[in-house]
Amino acid sequence: MTVIAVHPRVLTDAEYAALAGYLAHTAGLVFDQSRRPALAGIVADRIAATGAADLGAYLARISAPAGEEERQHLLDAVTIPETHFFRNPPQMLALQRRLLPELMRRAVARGRALTVWSAGCSSGEEPYSLAMLVAEVAATLPQAPQVRIVATDLSTIAVDATRRARYSGRSLALVDDDRRARWFTEEEDGSRTVVPEIRDVVDVRLHNLVTHAPPFEHGEVDLVVCRNVTIYFARETMRDLVGRFHGVLGAGGYLVMGHAETLWQVTDAFTLVTLGDAFAYRKDLPAVPEPVAEPAPLPVHIHPRRAVRRTPEQRVRNAWPEAPAAHARPLDSVPDPDTATHLLRLAREAFDQAHYAEAARLAAAAAAASPFEVEAYVVEGSARATVGDDEGALVALRKAVYLAPRPRPCPTLRPRTSSRCSTAATSPSS
Ligand SMILES: C[S@@+](CC[C@H](N)C(=O)[O-])C[C@H]1O[C@@H](n2cnc3c(N)ncnc32)[C@H](O)[C@@H]1O
Repeated sequence: MTVIAVHPRVLTDAEYAALAGYLAHTAGLVFDQSRRPALAGIVADRIAATGAADLGAYLARISAPAGEEERQHLLDAVTIPETHFFRNPPQMLALQRRLLPELMRRAVARGRALTVWSAGCSSGEEPYSLAMLVAEVAATLPQAPQVRIVATDLSTIAVDATRRARYSGRSLALVDDDRRARWFTEEEDGSRTVVPEIRDVVDVRLHNLVTHAPPFEHGEVDLVVCRNVTIYFARETMRDLVGRFHGVLGAGGYLVMGHAETLWQVTDAFTLVTLGDAFAYRKDLPAVPEPVAEPAPLPVHIHPRRAVRRTPEQRVRNAWPEAPAAHARPLDSVPDPDTATHLLRLAREAFDQAHYAEAARLAAAAAAASPFEVEAYVVEGSARATVGDDEGALVALRKAVYLAPRPRPCPTLRPRTSSRCSTAATSPSS
């Protein structure tokens, strides 16, 4: 007679503590008592499937290098894949109207691809929603950047579903008819598959946010979307993860989290930006970026009497009292690229008509509206240099160099601009 070992679907306190400790350590996942019965059921099934003698033997097995496959089975079973297309409509609107246009314009200005990380992407609805928004925004811009969306998740079930890109039911509830027609093809069974144009920009990978290094270089990413993942993380785990997000984001990049997730008491490294009913966290420029190497010599004469050491705030205030400092903007203001474009055009016109003080004021306002607009700092710096405010010019041009260290086509500044420039060297007096 075959004896079938029935593993108890109830965990003792010690067993529960051991299992919960393992999952917190391996994946950051914290289980409170309300999920104890569910966890007990899952692990009982896994113990039965592997033939392990008890929980201790099972944990020993999955802790060993050879236990990787079973470890993945357990992680697949305990993660919560809940998601759908265009989840959190206020956030989607904020991405479509504010964040993506700003980031895409900036990527074009820097001659780089737009890089987005959907971290904890579940079955793919989030990264594909982002790809659809990017495509829709691209159609409204004069020039759009190359786009790369990297979608990662801990669960192989989630990663496989993302690669399959086939959806039905509740998942599609927030997809309107236009988007259904444009971004999906309908299958015979009524399910819908994401079109290749959208699938092709999404690079799907298995990745553990807690134990793996981010799949990016420092400063490479423009936007991290990590929603409804860290709600199950301990604060320390979250702090470490957010530190890694900060590292891979470039200056001016954004971190978007779920509406129940906050960086309050986690880190002060980001600026909270409200966007209507949504919010995002921005990685800011340093207040006055210091050049990594000696700054390129500016084609302006620095008067010795101006070489007085002052704080960055004093320099901005003293040199140009009416110019708003980008880093002093209220927390609830958001960059507005349209306003910035308008102000920058007015600044260039003022410069062309030799109204240099006005040009500098308008360019500073453009920079305040869109702090990563390189040309705003170039125009401001050039205008300040023209009227002899060399120290103010240096501050503005250093910001331009920080944002765009490589030489790039120079904005047309008449009547006294040089015919070619790096951002540091643009001056109407050359
Ligand atoms: C509730 S879903 C959120 C999906 C999507 N971000 C959204 O908001 O619709 C949470 C996802 O986070 C993933 N996850 C949990 N812990 C993770 C970890 N340590 N590393 C990577 N992904 C993880 C889960 O596998 C799951 O797919």
